[in-house]
Amino acid sequence: MTASPRGFVLRHTRLRPVPGLEEVRLHLADEVVPLWHAVQVETDDPEAALPYWAFAWAGGLAIGRYLREHPETVAGRRVFDLASGSGLCALAAARAGASAVSGADVDPFAGAAIALNARANGHRVAIVRRDVLDDEAPDVDVILAGDCWYEARLAERVLPWLLRARAHGIEVLVGDPGRRYLPIDELVELASYEVRTTTELEDLERKHGQVYALRPAE
Ligand SMILES: C[S@@+](CC[C@H](N)C(=O)[O-])C[C@H]1O[C@@H](n2cnc3c(N)ncnc32)[C@H](O)[C@@H]1O
Repeated sequence: MTASPRGFVLRHTRLRPVPGLEEVRLHLADEVVPLWHAVQVETDDPEAALPYWAFAWAGGLAIGRYLREHPETVAGRRVFDLASGSGLCALAAARAGASAVSGADVDPFAGAAIALNARANGHRVAIVRRDVLDDEAPDVDVILAGDCWYEARLAERVLPWLLRARAHGIEVLVGDPGRRYLPIDELVELASYEVRTTTELEDLERKHGQVYALRPAE
């Protein structure tokens, strides 16, 4: 692992407004493959994860838009952003008036990116730098899960964890552009947004990102 994930994030990104959510600024990259190679070299790990943290993903963008339109969802409430990446959803929640915000991600570069992005936006985000999916639900009011269903292994662990959280009375918001492993039968759509992403990540520059709640238990 690199001596300084923070220095690496700063060297490989540029702070700029998020397209379609300009009130949030993030350290973002333009190209995914060269950055991924740089991560592999930096960490001496050919299996290193994609630099998810250097991009605003369609699911997170949809949550950001939803929180801008419905700040009451999180205002005055404690929010936990699962699979936080850049911290996009966490920062949208902070901006919407959440009383406390945490962002959790397993990638050390994401931890550094969330810290840098929180500072750039003048918000406090507590960073959880480990895998929480085998833990009890956190002591919060709302969980945000932006773009978590892109990979089978992660997908099969996220839903049970979110259902456990819901059983503890936590409100769950999912943001997703229709990824392969999205458990659509377990969700109720709240809103849909056209979001601007990049063909570096997606097939199209504009995607539809949906925001969902968990379907009420029968
Ligand atoms: C597609 S990105 C989404 C980032 C952000 N939510 C957004 O919408 O822009 C998915 C993120 O999930 C993180 N991740 C993968 N497995 C995880 C786990 N077990 N716990 C927390 N985060 C995880 C990855 O490191 C990555 O940053």
